[in-house]
Amino acid sequence: MKKLFNLFLMLFAAMPILSLSESNPTNFSETCEDGSGEPGSSFGIGFDLVLDFGLYRNSCPEAESIVYSWVQTAVLQDPRMAASLLRLHFHDCFVNGCDASVLLDDTEGLVGEKTAPPNLKSLRGFEVIDSIKSDLESVCPETVSCADILAMAARDSVVVSGGPSWEVEVGRKDSRTASKQAATTGLPSPNSTVPTLISVFQKLGLSQTDMVALSGGHTLGKARCTSFTARLLPLQTGVPANHGDNLDFLESLQQLCSTVDPSVAITQLDLVTPSTFDNQYYVNLLSGEGLLPSDQALAVQDPGTRAIVETYAADQSVFFEDFKNAMVKMGGITGGSNSEIRRNCRMIN
Ligand code: HEM
Repeated sequence: MKKLFNLFLMLFAAMPILSLSESNPTNFSETCEDGSGEPGSSFGIGFDLVLDFGLYRNSCPEAESIVYSWVQTAVLQDPRMAASLLRLHFHDCFVNGCDASVLLDDTEGLVGEKTAPPNLKSLRGFEVIDSIKSDLESVCPETVSCADILAMAARDSVVVSGGPSWEVEVGRKDSRTASKQAATTGLPSPNSTVPTLISVFQKLGLSQTDMVALSGGHTLGKARCTSFTARLLPLQTGVPANHGDNLDFLESLQQLCSTVDPSVAITQLDLVTPSTFDNQYYVNLLSGEGLLPSDQALAVQDPGTRAIVETYAADQSVFFEDFKNAMVKMGGITGGSNSEIRRNCRMIN
């Protein structure tokens, strides 16, 4: 029975996109400022690389099933791993395009992105990607890029957690460089305001709807107290930061963060269904139980994002359609040159 269920999941993972509930024209030429005030980079969607659905069908037909089975095993052992693999793909794509630069270790002559503040002591899942890569290298050497592995692993993480499936476009190449600076300034901060979040996503060709849908990734995984200290301010100052603050929820967070070292204390981004990919995250936002300031802001700072949050909270299928659409768009962010297919995802060839 379990084998049958697994087979069903694997077939499901390979199903094509059915329909998209939104089509947003992307604006490649628009640049804007991120929260740090640094000028934005000019990466956009599909600049110099054409991604394709069936690239590995002939060159490495086992690719999808190898990735899926490693993800499934890893998530069975550690349910949080689904969240960590999904986030790795996001942190890869937002820094100079989806090029696996996030996976590079510091070596002589190369400073990786792992020690950039948004990633340090926070990104996880590198060993799972290593295992996938090592299996793929023995079956079809130098064929499947690390950046494509990240994209497939992100999709499979969503699927094994009960979320939707989509077909992953492949053909990404791996970078021969990394940018700690870009990882430091280019990723959105949990204290970002809604206009800043919209700008950061827009400069990569992602719409406001894409941003709210992708934030739904926070239906999985955990965050450290240091990521949401600003949520506790109303308790300390007595001044509500947001209309709709849920004081009971904030008190429980304060208790957690004051009893354990805040740099190691962690809690679920979605307290109700932490390991299930569903629309509960949006329901939580409406009751003031968003964990990160940037999450709660979506429901209270802007009527446009609030309306999208309400739609997703009321109808999970709309969220799933928009999430799939946005993941394909995010996975299509390319940039840079000098690319290769790494033999080891942690170092250039
Ligand atoms: C909208 C802007 C976003 C901000 C400001 C943001 C910020 C954060 C922060 C601060 C954490 C906790 C890190 C820690 O405390 O160690 C986190 C975790 C996470 N983020 Fe985001 N994020 C954003 C968008 C996204 C997107 C687009 C995705 C994927 C589609 C995503 C997926 C995740 C996941 C799954 C986790 C939990 C990871 C784990 O448990 O290992 N986030 N995010």
